[in-house]
Amino acid sequence: MADMTPFCRLSVAPMLDWTDRHCRYFLRQVAPGARLFTEMITTGALEHGERARFLAFDAAEHPVAVQLGGSESEALTRCARLAAQAGFDEVNLNVGCPSDRVQSGRFGACLMLEPATVASAVEAMREAVDIPVSVKCRLGVDEHDSYPLLHDFTARLVEAGVSRLYVHARKAWLKGLSPKQNRDVPPLDYPRVYRLKRDFPQLEIHLNGGVTERAAVEAHLARVDGVMIGRAAYHNPWLLAELETGLGVPGVPASRHEVVARMLPYMERQLAAGVRLHAITRHMLGLFQGCPGARAWRRTLSEEAPRPGAGVEVLERALACVPVEAAGSA
Ligand SMILES: Cc1cc2nc3c(=O)[nH]c(=O)nc-3n(C[C@H](O)[C@H](O)[C@H](O)COP(=O)(O)O)c2cc1C
Repeated sequence: MADMTPFCRLSVAPMLDWTDRHCRYFLRQVAPGARLFTEMITTGALEHGERARFLAFDAAEHPVAVQLGGSESEALTRCARLAAQAGFDEVNLNVGCPSDRVQSGRFGACLMLEPATVASAVEAMREAVDIPVSVKCRLGVDEHDSYPLLHDFTARLVEAGVSRLYVHARKAWLKGLSPKQNRDVPPLDYPRVYRLKRDFPQLEIHLNGGVTERAAVEAHLARVDGVMIGRAAYHNPWLLAELETGLGVPGVPASRHEVVARMLPYMERQLAAGVRLHAITRHMLGLFQGCPGARAWRRTLSEEAPRPGAGVEVLERALACVPVEAAGSA
């Protein structure tokens, strides 16, 4: 079936413990066009855990991709079906996570060494669902980081019918580095991603890793189809609004204050459903980064939102710390 997902040049990376549904709803208010991702969900957790919780999302989050962690075709296929039934717009397979837990389950980044396994999983998922199936990978793992290996890996995915590839532009060291170190220590190599795009012009390729500024996004977008932003989007979400304004995306909020106003009805609904205010506001701490009053905004939310019974009045107090004129659209 034709890929009906709107073409997004920007996406926010999957981040465990960060890109939960409240975070995604918030990011959607900031960036109306970006593709959003769930946290990685393992096939085991989805099949045997709190499925409804993992698959819950708000209609406002579209376009939203679910990221699966696993390596076994049948389980991935069943999970892809569940995700498609739940209304997700894309299924993404994690071939980039280097954690020990993931390695012992033989998935994540170590799958870069098993292109045939990844290709057959992609093919099986594609046959099972009508939504696009994509992969997020690294440049390589350990000493297996030559360009021909990445090229071969990609060629197998293309044969298997992958819809798009998100490439974290550094390799992973599977032994000796923590997942956190693996996001900073191996050097970034953007030219390698550009080369991959030149070699696979028909494949939609998105570059990820270390992108924090508009100029860099523009430079990458001249060479690849899309840019995926992780930490910078979380710590400084307004960056996304600035980027989308530059890309001409309609509906970008005019100010950070408008983002907060857009969040209030959602917060009221979630509070009424029993969600704690802090579960939502913890993702909003970076909204005023770089503005006068940003520290007081963060402090007010961090101190007051976790209190039992905290309601949206906390937002009013936090907002009073940040002058409106200083927080306008950039
Ligand atoms: C807290 C945190 C959790 C992450 N969890 C995931 C994950 O679940 N799946 C995944 O593919 N990558 C995960 N990543 C990696 C990011 O998706 C991204 O590839 C990485 O942070 C590099 O992009 P950046 O430099 O823009 O942050 C995580 C990163 C962070 C900071």
